[in-house]
Amino acid sequence: MTADAPDSRDLLSFLDFHVAAGVDAVLDETPHDRFAEPEAPRRAARAEADAPMRPSEPTPELARAAPPPRQDAPRAEVPRQEAVRQETVRQETVRPEAPSTYGRSAAAAPGEAAGDARELAATAASLEELEGLLGQFESCALRFTAKNLVFADGNPQARVMFVGEAPGADEDRVGKPFMGRSGQLLDRMMAAVGLDRTNAYVGNVVPWRPPGNRNPTPQELATCKPFIERQIALADPDILVCLGGVATQALAGTKDGILKSRGRWFPYRTGRREIRLLATLHPAYLLRQPLQKRLAWRDFRALRAALDEGGR
Ligand code: URA
Repeated sequence: MTADAPDSRDLLSFLDFHVAAGVDAVLDETPHDRFAEPEAPRRAARAEADAPMRPSEPTPELARAAPPPRQDAPRAEVPRQEAVRQETVRQETVRPEAPSTYGRSAAAAPGEAAGDARELAATAASLEELEGLLGQFESCALRFTAKNLVFADGNPQARVMFVGEAPGADEDRVGKPFMGRSGQLLDRMMAAVGLDRTNAYVGNVVPWRPPGNRNPTPQELATCKPFIERQIALADPDILVCLGGVATQALAGTKDGILKSRGRWFPYRTGRREIRLLATLHPAYLLRQPLQKRLAWRDFRALRAALDEGGR
């Protein structure tokens, strides 16, 4: 056996990971040399890996089991156009007089909204305060079309924090990140390396669902970024795991697509200290491209090793 050849323990844990992640079928009998394929499909694959990562429909179980939405959001289930119309009316009528809210308006100029967010986020002395401030922040229009603020789940004292892109329909309904099919896969991947929501903390770069699961715009990302940065600083994990290209580009300061940046460790400054950021593939992408789970498995093993190195 060569120095690089996996031993049988590696192979067994590789298999275990796939079984735990729900792989129960082989898609092809023969291997494909993807490097030998023309550039166009490869470009399409890269684009898909960087595409929005929220399923458009809630899972049936969650649709049934959903708790009522929180007080601070519009309640009625309305078609998107109607929601936008209502939002326009609300902006024209209600918001200027609304007390106990922060930010100028959803129509604020890009730089101004981000500036508001930075100032406000910096005042939060705890995660609870930060969540409260976000609940009152009005300079991001997404809050008006979302049912709920999706702030976090898991243990804020954990050494590892996972950050996704933005909530989808299930998360919007429940008010917690990663509740749908990609959340179930994330839970299985975490479990394969001894993690769950009691020893990991989970959040998103954008805490409100973009309507119709469209991509968050650069302006929305810029407006929400000071809040996730403050959330990370307050939770103070040792390791940050960015799920997918949007989170990685927002937090790691790279413009590389996720297929290039995954598996890489980046330095990340929380304001208090430098921690390590690991980029990996988004579970929603893995649901569409199950063969890529082998790459995620490498990343999760690297994560486990880094946690073990750091003790605890
Ligand atoms: N995709 C994300 O990026 N975040 C979630 O919370 C759910 C799906």
